Amino acid sequence: MVIERIPEKDELTSPEMARYFSEMAKRYMKIPCRRVIYKVKAKGIKKGFALDIGTGPAVFPIAIIKEFPDIKFLAVDTSYAMLEVAKENACEAGITKKIYFHQATGYHLPLKNRSIDLVTCINTLHHLDDPLKLFNEIKRVLAPNGHLILVDFHRDISWPLAKLLNILWHIFFRDKKAKRGFIESFLSSYTVNECKDFLEKSELEGWKIYTKAYEMWVEC
Ligand SMILES: C[S@@+](CC[C@H](N)C(=O)[O-])C[C@H]1O[C@@H](n2cnc3c(N)ncnc32)[C@H](O)[C@@H]1O
Repeated sequence: MVIERIPEKDELTSPEMARYFSEMAKRYMKIPCRRVIYKVKAKGIKKGFALDIGTGPAVFPIAIIKEFPDIKFLAVDTSYAMLEVAKENACEAGITKKIYFHQATGYHLPLKNRSIDLVTCINTLHHLDDPLKLFNEIKRVLAPNGHLILVDFHRDISWPLAKLLNILWHIFFRDKKAKRGFIESFLSSYTVNECKDFLEKSELEGWKIYTKAYEMWVEC
């Protein structure tokens, strides 16, 4: 039986939380970044204009730019505090000329139709209550041969596995600021069938959806 979805309260708006999340992401997201880079490589994308939705501390677009210096990014997030930390991270990485930041929701992107070669959206879908609106907005901005790489948790994993991941989460994120744990993100995530249903109703074409353990991947 699948547990009912409980939307997560967004607490990444305070500078303190944004900085903490950034430090954790820089420490633990190296392997997830490599996996996304592997997908970018597999799609044959070496240059162009990319968009990262829900960029947080921007560790993913920064890693992609370092690997593919001819890709430029627009990184958007609703949290001003996260964007401030993301700008510092881009500066630290020496790539400020290749990444632009904008406070925006994934529902209304400040971009022209068909202007983007690659959209990435990592660990963000569970924050959004209207994935259909997000997918249609992604479709609007994607160039005709553009690609999407979306990764998030999914609510199909068993409750014992979710609890185990929660324990591991607390071991790695010892600080009391991280008290909420993995469970809240897990509970606010979508099941593969829910996500597939949104994708089927959306205008996006040529997508595929699959799971890798606790992750759900959507690509097109
Ligand atoms: C869990 S963080 C993931 C950050 C980053 N992608 C990563 O994996 O390191 C989710 C981010 O999505 C942002 N967010 C939440 N709702 C959003 C929306 N409607 N549009 C854009 N960003 C949003 C939050 O502010 C937060 O920074």
